[in-house]
Amino acid sequence: MKPINVGLLGIGTVGGGTFRVLARNREEIARRAGCEIAMKMVADKDLDKARRLVGKSATVTADANEVVGHPDIDIVVELIGGTGVAKELILKAIANGKHVVTANKALLAQHGNEIFAAAQKKDVMVAFEAAVGGGIPIIKSLREGLTANRIEWIAGIINGTCNFILSEMREKGASFADVLKEAQARGYAEADPTFDIEGVDAAHKLTIMAAIGFGIPMQFKSVHVEGISRLAQQDIRYAGELGYRVKLLGIAKRKEKGIELRVHPTLIPERRLIANVEGVMNAILVKGDAVGQAMFYGAGAGAEPTASAIVADLVDVARMLTADPEHRVPHLAFQPDRLSNTPILPMGEVETRYYLRMCVQDKPGVLADISRILADLSISIEAMVQKEPHPGEEQVDIIMLTHLTVEKNVDAAIARIEKLPVVVGKVTRIRLEELN
Ligand code: NDP
Ligand code: HSE
Repeated sequence: MKPINVGLLGIGTVGGGTFRVLARNREEIARRAGCEIAMKMVADKDLDKARRLVGKSATVTADANEVVGHPDIDIVVELIGGTGVAKELILKAIANGKHVVTANKALLAQHGNEIFAAAQKKDVMVAFEAAVGGGIPIIKSLREGLTANRIEWIAGIINGTCNFILSEMREKGASFADVLKEAQARGYAEADPTFDIEGVDAAHKLTIMAAIGFGIPMQFKSVHVEGISRLAQQDIRYAGELGYRVKLLGIAKRKEKGIELRVHPTLIPERRLIANVEGVMNAILVKGDAVGQAMFYGAGAGAEPTASAIVADLVDVARMLTADPEHRVPHLAFQPDRLSNTPILPMGEVETRYYLRMCVQDKPGVLADISRILADLSISIEAMVQKEPHPGEEQVDIIMLTHLTVEKNVDAAIARIEKLPVVVGKVTRIRLEELN
């Protein structure tokens, strides 16, 4: 079979890794793909950097349009990122009949429906294994390995930067700002790191997994998103004392009335395997009715782990080139005309457990007032701890863990508790998942 020619857009962290992995494992990859996969063109704004990395092995250009329009290019690998020029280039590549491989979860979560429809019209493939979980083959697993199952829920640590920050804060007491700088230096963070720490990147990835898991269109705007930037060191410590770890989780759960889609810091019992996933590692738990729980674990970011997924997609596309388009694996696992319109539940309807921390004046009757409010709203307390008074003050932290409760009741309880004259400041609420 003749070689497959690849054009790379953006030779930054992941693009550089992809170039290296393709070159290093060239022979092995050709044996798997059944043909050589050759990086023929590379486009990057920084021509000197691109020339330095590529040498004479590929044509280098500063104009990505040259690559997407070039008649010799079969597959375009988009590793520029963002939803602006990357979207234009991908749509142009598709219009020109090129297959596309991308790691761009932001683009797919927001414009995936449009991109897949365009690709379907032109009978080309858009592959995106690297968009979720870095090197973990979670897209392939959800789309192919688990097709027998009715997926019940997916819960994942899907942002390496946040997990790295939380691990370093818990293990070394490191400051948030210092660890974020290190994550950026290691190439884990997004171009705009607020996407990482505010949970947006995880929400992009959750949108993609939910679409594939449940056969629904991409619905990024319906995801409830909370990041880790307001998480206090003392909550990580108190959670530890109670036997829990705090992780940024992306959760997609099928319920009777619809689907919960949420990203937020979450307490997880420390005896769960997923609670012990540290550093830049990612893990995704999938609960299917037949398989039960399956956990997928691996490096969630970084040059070569992500390149591993990009190159796997290149091989997949190369293998599928000769397949009749109707018999290829559908982009979102379900046939495009069989996607369902199951509603995404509003956050108030979500049911989970809660960690509540409130700072109160150390006076008689305070607990009774708080308990009354919780009881009025049918919120049952599973555990409660009162900490030592703050040094030199007559205020104490009270921590409560609730049983399963509907979010709107917790919202109402928090609003009433914060109005009590004995309560100082805001109530901290972190959701808790047993994941069993
Ligand atoms: P980088 O910023 O390291 O790389 C992007 C590259 O594209 C840079 O070299 C940039 O040049 C170049 N570029 C920007 N605009 C253009 C343009 N118009 N034409 C040609 N080249 C351009 O990003 P990453 O490699 O980290 O990320 C790439 C994609 O992969 C993103 O979608 C990201 O979300 C995704 N991803 C990243 C992971 C990671 O671990 N880093 C993991 C999984 C997915 P310059 O630097 O001069 O602007
Ligand atoms: N910024 C992302 C992360 C890169 O930290 O997980 C991998 O998608």
